[in-house]
Amino acid sequence: MTKPSILILPGDGIGPEVMDQVIRVIDWFGSNRNLYFDITTDLVGGAAYDKFGVPITDETVAKALKVDAVLLGAVGGPKYDNLDFSVKPERGLLRLRKELDLFSNLRPAQCFDALADFSSLKKELVAGLDIMIVRELTSGIYFGEPRGIQEDNEGGRVGINTQRYTTNEIRRVARSAFELARKRDNRVCSMEKANVMESGILWREEVQWVHDNEYPDVELSHMYADAGGMQLVRAPKQFDVIVTDNLFGDMLSDVAAMLTGSLGMLPSASLGLPDENGKPKALYEPVHGSAPDIEGQGKANPIACILSFAMALRYSFNELDEAKRLEGAIDAVLAKGIRTPDLMQAEDMKPVSTTDMGDAILEALDGSL
Ligand code: IPM
Ligand code: MG
Repeated sequence: MTKPSILILPGDGIGPEVMDQVIRVIDWFGSNRNLYFDITTDLVGGAAYDKFGVPITDETVAKALKVDAVLLGAVGGPKYDNLDFSVKPERGLLRLRKELDLFSNLRPAQCFDALADFSSLKKELVAGLDIMIVRELTSGIYFGEPRGIQEDNEGGRVGINTQRYTTNEIRRVARSAFELARKRDNRVCSMEKANVMESGILWREEVQWVHDNEYPDVELSHMYADAGGMQLVRAPKQFDVIVTDNLFGDMLSDVAAMLTGSLGMLPSASLGLPDENGKPKALYEPVHGSAPDIEGQGKANPIACILSFAMALRYSFNELDEAKRLEGAIDAVLAKGIRTPDLMQAEDMKPVSTTDMGDAILEALDGSL
């Protein structure tokens, strides 16, 4: 039997150090659960730019298209701030999303019991929180044409980006949200700005169409994205699945992430359409960025990246029980009060290092056997 394949792209900043812990976890599943993966590692973002002058090479994209799943750490850093837009580290990530056609970005915001009083919101508002943001990832204003910075007629300049969505683009991401809702609390809230944007009107109509024709059993509501942001901080537990466009999804998912206490805890999956074997192209990455301020100091929390691998077990490798095992191990570690510096709850708490956190999770995995 051929082993499932994973392309690992640690990237920049804290990406490589958190990814080291993920690799230890992957090895654990080989040694203890007979789950072996065919692993290749490559460069993306600033790391690729430093070596090749581009944020991702054609060869790396070709590899990403072949493997069963891509695991990415983070891209970007101050060193690259003044680079031309076309070669910025972020372009490497955007190219992967586009070329793999990863239109459905799943961003769960779950509040771990042990961290409920860590949120900037009151504990009772977030305890038990479990929402899933489905963000459209390959279209909208991130990719729409025309775009650019041009001279205008008055001797100044004009910056242009275009919000553009087609029926098909809206329907396919809506379907993935409804599918997820059926496995959860069966509720979808769609967010746009139909009060000011034509693309928002189309978004609302097409999501409603998919609901009425294909998922009438799922409860659907619509909200303007600004009101949605307000409701997310007012009463986040009212939501189950939220589906929204690329730009609103970028912002709303950061808001939702912070409700849970730390960006260092949240994974994400970006999925394409399932192929003939029912498997989608997939990229998994933590929601946090490259955090250059703490790079190389052993302070980074590897949990978001490890939970991203748990999502890969679930969505790419169909290993639900093993995904639960890994999530359970992380729960157990947090319940013991083991914390990286981003999760300090009290003066007298002593933070552990990135590697110590990896050790603790491996130990909890051993305990799960
Ligand atoms: C995200 C990030 C990216 C985005 C950047 C790094 C291009 O903020 O994944 O949320 O804007 O999509
Ligand atoms: Mg973002």
